[in-house]
Amino acid sequence: MPQANPIRHFLQFRDLSRDELYRLFERTRWIKDKFKRYERFWPLEDRTLVMIFEKQSTRTRLSFEAGMHQLGGAAIFLSTRDSQLGRGEPVEDAAQVISRMCDLVMIRTFEQDIVERFAANSRVPVINGLTNEYHPCQILADIYTYIEQRGDIKGKTVAWIGDSNNVCNTWLQAAEVLDFNVHVSTPPGYEVEPERANLHGTRHYEEFTDPMEAARGADLVTTDVWTSMGFEAENDARKKDFEDWQVDAEMMKVAGQGAVFMHCLPAHRGEEVSADVIDGPQSVVWDEAENRLHTQKALMEFLLQGKVKP
Ligand code: CP
Ligand code: NVA
Repeated sequence: MPQANPIRHFLQFRDLSRDELYRLFERTRWIKDKFKRYERFWPLEDRTLVMIFEKQSTRTRLSFEAGMHQLGGAAIFLSTRDSQLGRGEPVEDAAQVISRMCDLVMIRTFEQDIVERFAANSRVPVINGLTNEYHPCQILADIYTYIEQRGDIKGKTVAWIGDSNNVCNTWLQAAEVLDFNVHVSTPPGYEVEPERANLHGTRHYEEFTDPMEAARGADLVTTDVWTSMGFEAENDARKKDFEDWQVDAEMMKVAGQGAVFMHCLPAHRGEEVSADVIDGPQSVVWDEAENRLHTQKALMEFLLQGKVKP
């Protein structure tokens, strides 16, 4: 028998349907406008978010903590270093206990399996704040930013230049849900792994050996660090393997004047992106970073729907 009020989690991008995403983007605009007008909006008064970090963060921590505060609630930061999670307490036990004391959980960790196991044992919604496989909150903000700058993303082309990492996998999932295309160019040996990206349905991406061809005519060009957190041992090899996968001015020129440049940040100027691109007129990276705050506020409200003030 279906539960009256089933718990919704946001562990992968496809956990939200197309209709839910469009509603969430509309709500984001409303929440952002209200915030910019300094109007109080406290639907999460007396609610608590627990944020668990097993990897470092600036934007994710700040946007969730500030966002929860701005919605009238409180956020508690737990890191592996100073909680029992770092001493081997089973994730299932941690989920049972933590979810009895709060209303929402956000986790940044290594394998996706960890957030899945946590969610399976949680009494409250769980949000993926980045795993080795996915970074769904980032792509929420990125797509909202695209809509804000250029309108609907349906039918558009996103060029992904670089590593087929957590952010890339999430773009590929999002393309299936929201019906746009991704042109991916990775160095040999770093190609997309469709199973790891959990892709199904009609193929919405094309792979290019030449990054310039991937960028040609794209509406949005994006990249990420050559070495993600957790893969530091591969750093030297990656620096060599990725040297031709830099988004530079020439690449933005083949994309076209109307194309925007995005990067989830932190960025390494001179590696995956040249300084003139990230600091140039096509770059929307600061709006993109700010929109982490607004989209996640809409997400937290959505996940607690029915339990909080409308
Ligand atoms: N983009 C992003 O998630 O940044 P942080 O690692 O600083 O949270
Ligand atoms: N792919 C990067 C994203 C950081 C926000 C990482 O996982 O380190």
